[in-house]
Amino acid sequence: MGRLDDKVVWVTGGSAGIGKAIAARCVAEGARVVLSSRKDDRLARAAAEVCGDRPDAVFTRACHCGEPSQIAATVAWIEQTVGSPDVLVNNAATNPYFGPLLKTPPSMWDKTFEVNVRGYFETTRAVVDRLLAAGRPGSVVNVASIQGSRAAPLQGVYGMTKAAVISMTRTLAVELGRAGIRVNAIAPGLVDTHFAKTLTASDDLVKLYTDRAALGRFATPDEIAGLAVYLASDESTYVTGQVFTIDGGYTAT
Ligand SMILES: NC(=O)c1ccc[n+]([C@@H]2O[C@H](COP(=O)([O-])OP(=O)(O)OC[C@H]3O[C@@H](n4cnc5c(N)ncnc54)[C@H](OP(=O)(O)O)[C@@H]3O)[C@@H](O)[C@H]2O)c1
Repeated sequence: MGRLDDKVVWVTGGSAGIGKAIAARCVAEGARVVLSSRKDDRLARAAAEVCGDRPDAVFTRACHCGEPSQIAATVAWIEQTVGSPDVLVNNAATNPYFGPLLKTPPSMWDKTFEVNVRGYFETTRAVVDRLLAAGRPGSVVNVASIQGSRAAPLQGVYGMTKAAVISMTRTLAVELGRAGIRVNAIAPGLVDTHFAKTLTASDDLVKLYTDRAALGRFATPDEIAGLAVYLASDESTYVTGQVFTIDGGYTAT
């Protein structure tokens, strides 16, 4: 018996990093899992890695989360091919600009908000509309960041989008709770992925993080995945509207 038996889980940005780690755990817990990201070749490689002994339980679909029409088409495809999602893990995000907030180029402002906020919103709306129509419960897990609830120097727009995700999480939890649909967020600190390579490639920036983090190191993607499984599963049926920090104690001081 797995903790996600009979559930359909959609993980956006599932071809790498934290999303891939979450997908692998969900497959291991018995779910049928859809991985989406922009690139088919990365998705195919990730599917082969996460499937374990359940290759029939893993599905892939290219979907740019900054394109609402692709999101709509993907949800319709999932519904037809796999079944209506019970769990949505909003994880695909972008951070194209590293520099002072007031110098942010407008195109990068737009791209960051399109993917990180509008993308999370449109996927959620599409999945929740189906849950509501069917009268079924569900769980939305939003991967936010500790940068959404503190100053985010040199990553200001990214931090603003993660603050928006936290706000969206709380509002939707209240608006959807009576329908049995739970909405929670995970706020990781520094995690060793391609996304964070600007930070992890710099000894100075790594030291800034690890000196302050109680555990003295940054995280692996798998260290984020366990909480996502808990929030997706029926072990967390009384948990909604919350933001869970996983940062090795970075924000404890
Ligand atoms: N790593 C950290 O230190 C850290 C800390 C806090 C929060 N986070 C959050 O964790 C989440 C995952 O990040 P990660 O570190 O795991 O990054 P990652 O290893 O770079 O993986 C990002 C994933 O998102 C996909 N993706 C990127 N842009 C996309 C788009 N526009 N539409 C659809 N898919 C897209 C990528 O695949 P394709 O290239 O194929 O699209 C890939 O599957 C993000 O929400 C990020 O903000 C990360």
